[in-house]
Amino acid sequence: MVAALFLALALATASCSGTEPADDGSIPSVPIGLAPGDPLAGAQLYRSVCASCHGTDLAGVEGLGRELVPSSFIATMSEDDLVLFIIEGRSLDHPDNITGVAMLPRVGNPSLSDQDIANVVAYIKAQQ
Ligand code: HEC
Repeated sequence: MVAALFLALALATASCSGTEPADDGSIPSVPIGLAPGDPLAGAQLYRSVCASCHGTDLAGVEGLGRELVPSSFIATMSEDDLVLFIIEGRSLDHPDNITGVAMLPRVGNPSLSDQDIANVVAYIKAQQ
């Protein structure tokens, strides 16, 4: 009984001392430990999550999202930096914004995991 109590206390302490994810508005950093992006999984996600704004052919959709092919931005950024870019989004007042439309952090879809984003990035990189 006493041992069980100690165990419960130890578990409670351990779960409190872990590093919490930064979902408090602090500046995100490039996620560590992601597997290399899988472009095939990324292509599927692209069609379901990104194509509505960027087009199934990545040519952009007027008033929603700009073209992703060709994109010197994508061509010159590393995959890690692109993952971070999609996690952060691009605000209206960002100097690179040319359309007057914002891309929300994590494209407004909190269910997209960092690994999902890495997969989509592998896909859009491969299209350049
Ligand atoms: C609700 C619409 C919307 C969705 C969904 C969306 N985007 Fe965007 N995206 C935008 C807008 C708006 C911009 C910024 C346009 C500008 O800079 O003028 C943008 C910009 C970008 C850029 C920068 C392009 C460049 O050349 O500067 C990339 C890369 C990008 N999006 C990738 C993605 C990916 C990958 C997804 C899916 C995971 C996605 N976007 C989903 C609207 C969207």
